[in-house]
Amino acid sequence: MKIAVLKETRADETRVAASPETVKKFVGLGAEVAVQAGAGDGARFSDAEYRDAGAEVRPSAADTAQSADLVLKVQRPSSEELRVLGRGARLAAVLSLFDEPDSVEAYARLGVDAFALDLMPRITRAQSMDVLSSQSNLAGYKAVIDAAAYFGKALPMMMTAAGTIAPAKVFVMGAGVAGLQAIATARRLGAVVSATDVRLAAKEQVESLGATFVTVDEEAMKDAETAAGYAKEMSQDFQKRQAEFVAEHIKKQDIVITTALIPGRPAPKLISEEMVRAMRPGSVIVDLAAVQGGNVALTRPGDAIEIDGVTILGFNNVPGRLAADASSLLARNIFNFISAFWDEDKREFVVDWDDDIFKGVALTRDGAVIHPAFASEDPAPAPAATTKDAAGDDASASEGADDAG
Ligand code: NAI
Repeated sequence: MKIAVLKETRADETRVAASPETVKKFVGLGAEVAVQAGAGDGARFSDAEYRDAGAEVRPSAADTAQSADLVLKVQRPSSEELRVLGRGARLAAVLSLFDEPDSVEAYARLGVDAFALDLMPRITRAQSMDVLSSQSNLAGYKAVIDAAAYFGKALPMMMTAAGTIAPAKVFVMGAGVAGLQAIATARRLGAVVSATDVRLAAKEQVESLGATFVTVDEEAMKDAETAAGYAKEMSQDFQKRQAEFVAEHIKKQDIVITTALIPGRPAPKLISEEMVRAMRPGSVIVDLAAVQGGNVALTRPGDAIEIDGVTILGFNNVPGRLAADASSLLARNIFNFISAFWDEDKREFVVDWDDDIFKGVALTRDGAVIHPAFASEDPAPAPAATTKDAAGDDASASEGADDAG
């Protein structure tokens, strides 16, 4: 079983899909691992460390992926990257399909079995494989650290001989994985923290971290969670009352961290331009939803901007700003996924298409789109070769690759 780890090519991507630690574990399972030279640079994992862990370091993506059975990446491959995957190869990465739903067809056309790690079902058995959780956790922490760096004051209350400094007020919107970590971090730094969410389950979690939970309608929140634990879009009436409440609340805040997301939809707009302008100069907003369209009307994705003295941080790839930790956790998530389906005798990753985990993450199989959320009425044309012999067939692999993200 050959596993390839490619160097990320997208702007702002500093992470890598395997760490020296997980490479060593894959080698321990009996896999052969090839890592593209420089793949770990952004996370400060050197080629030498990968070699010491048992990997072969190869110069280019094409050399690395050549005849690989399984290709590991952080982000969805570009069309150029997809071309280096052989027909019949398997791909595991964070595929961000809601941004680029057509990319699914390209995996099918190229005969690549693609597994979207960001569709990992939220079941107990898959918790250690949940990339969204591991990365959101770090993003929530880093949001507070970034806010503190731009905030011209201290976060904790300080009693000094020259007098007392009041603690900063931090408001967290969206108390999922990132939001809860932001609350915990802000509390550790001594801020006075309040938070809101539309899911009622979040109330107790917020309060258990020592923050105040604020909402406009607890009754409406009882029906706001999907079976998968995600938020639903709220009614117009709820949104209107939430906006009125937020407008008043954020005038008194020093730092606002927004993390609200609804899977498959643009991020809900929670803070209008008027609300931003009503905040005190010197306040800081961190919009963790920037990449999905932003929770704040004025957020400029990838940038830090200032409006009437209020800073809005809309950094792309916030987990990537902690590249070493983000890569280590992501790499462990991926290892936990692969090793859970490892056949020790055959020394290979064996896909169990009927397992709930694969029903969640598997997009394509043998040239067809199989995921119910993406499969069209007319299945993709019948697959060509899917055997190992056909892997590395570059001519057939390049066909149709331009459509991929
Ligand atoms: P997410 O990243 O999709 O959304 C972030 C938060 O925004 C959520 O808490 C959501 O309720 C909230 N939100 C959406 N619209 C909002 C609005 N208009 N106003 C205020 N807040 C809004 O969610 P995330 O963080 O990925 O997880 C959601 C929940 O899933 C977690 O709290 C947890 O209960 C559950 N979970 C379960 C796991 C498991 O069982 N393996 C693993 C991770 C999370």
